[in-house]
Amino acid sequence: MTQLPGLLDTEAIRKDFPILDRLVHDGKKLVYLDNAATSQKPRQVLDVLSDYYERYNSNVHRGVHVLAEEATAAYESARDKVAEFINAPSRNEVIFTKNASESLNLVANMLGFADEPYRVERGTEVVITEMEHHSNIVPWQLLSQRTGAKLKWFGLTDEGRLDLSNIDEVITEQTKVVSFVLVSNILGTVNPVEAIVRRAQEVGALVVVDASQAAPHMPLDVQALQADFVAFTGHKMCGPTGIGVLWGRQELLEDLPPFLGGGEMIETVSMHSSTYAPAPHKFEAGTPPIAQAIGLGAAVDYLSSIGMENIAAHEHAITAYALERLSAVPDLRIVGPVTAEDRGAAISFTLGDIHPHDVGQVLDELGIAVRVGHHCARPVCLRYGIPATTRASFYLYSTPAEVDALVEGLEHVRNFFG
Ligand code: ALA
Repeated sequence: MTQLPGLLDTEAIRKDFPILDRLVHDGKKLVYLDNAATSQKPRQVLDVLSDYYERYNSNVHRGVHVLAEEATAAYESARDKVAEFINAPSRNEVIFTKNASESLNLVANMLGFADEPYRVERGTEVVITEMEHHSNIVPWQLLSQRTGAKLKWFGLTDEGRLDLSNIDEVITEQTKVVSFVLVSNILGTVNPVEAIVRRAQEVGALVVVDASQAAPHMPLDVQALQADFVAFTGHKMCGPTGIGVLWGRQELLEDLPPFLGGGEMIETVSMHSSTYAPAPHKFEAGTPPIAQAIGLGAAVDYLSSIGMENIAAHEHAITAYALERLSAVPDLRIVGPVTAEDRGAAISFTLGDIHPHDVGQVLDELGIAVRVGHHCARPVCLRYGIPATTRASFYLYSTPAEVDALVEGLEHVRNFFG
C-alpha cells in the first residue's frame, strides 16, 4: 500500500462512513471521488439527525413545551459550534441559510436594498472573478441588472490562477463589493485573499468570500481572512443538505436590511409596519432548517475531533500524489494548477478528445464516481476553450489506493476508446 507523509488513519475514519462500504454495479467497490459536489456523512452525523426526529422533533423559538425547548437549545448550540469552528467573534454573526447559494444571494440583496454607504446602485461597481461558481456570478449579475451597477471581474492566467496584474483598474473607488471564491471548485486554486482584501479596503469596498470548497478542507478563520462576509454550505463538510452559513461582521448585520420577511425575523408586526429582531434572526425568516443545523453542528464536532490542520495535510498529500500520477497518463491535461501548492483537492482534467461524459460513464462502470461537466463554473471552461472536464475530488477518507484505481480506470477508458 502506498504510504505518504501526512496521511490520516483512513482505515479508522472510513469505518465512520457506512456508505463507503457500498458495492456498486454487480459487486464493485465504490471509489467515491466526487467530494467537491457533496461529501459523505459519518455515522456521528446520521445518528444526531435520527435522534432529533425520533426524540425531540419540534419547531424552535416558539414553544414552551419540553420538545421545543430541547430543539431550540440544540439549534442554537449548533450556531455556537459553527461560530467556534470559523473563529467568529460572536455567535450572532452566524446566519443559517439553506446553502451557500442562498448565503451569497442574501448578501447581494442586502446590498441592493441597503442605505448609503453600502448601497449598490448605478455609478457603483461590483467585482467578481472568472473562476466563480455560478452561485457567485448570477446573484451579482441580477443585482447589477436590477440596480444599474457595473459588473467587473478578474481574469485567469493560463496556469489556472487569478490574474491580479490589473487589480488597481478592476477594484476602484467606485467598487462597493468584491466577491470571490477562496478555493475554486473546478480548478482547485487557492486564491490570494490578502492582496484582494488589501486593495478592497483601500477603496472602502466590502469583501465577500465564497468558502464552500474551503470550510470542509482547511482551518477557516473569518477574523484572519479580514472579509466582511463568508459563505459556505453544510453538505460538502460531512453535514446534511439544506443547511448553509453566512457569516457577517456584526455592525454590518445591524445596519443592513433583511431580505426575506416572515415569522422568526420580527420584533413586532402591525398592519402598517414591522420592526425586526436583531441579527442573526433578522435574516432567518420562517421555520429554519432545524435538523439540518443540528446535523451541521455534529459535522463540525466530527471534523474538529480529527482536526482541520490534519485534514488539510492529508488532502495535500493525496492531491500531490494524484497530480503526479495523473500527469503520467498519456493525453491527460490538468485544467488548473499542476502542483499541490496553494491548491485544494479538486482536480479537473481532459483526456485527449474523449468527451468527459464518456470518461465518467466508463469510470462509473468500474465503481469510480467522478463528476463531469462544467461544474457550475462554465466561464472557466470557456476561458480554457473546453466544453467540460472530468473532475476527481478528494476528502479526509480518500486513499492513495483510490488514486491508483482512478489512474487504472483512466487507462481502461483510453483502451476502451482506442
Ligand atoms: N458546487 C458543487 C460542485 O462543484 C455542486 O460540484
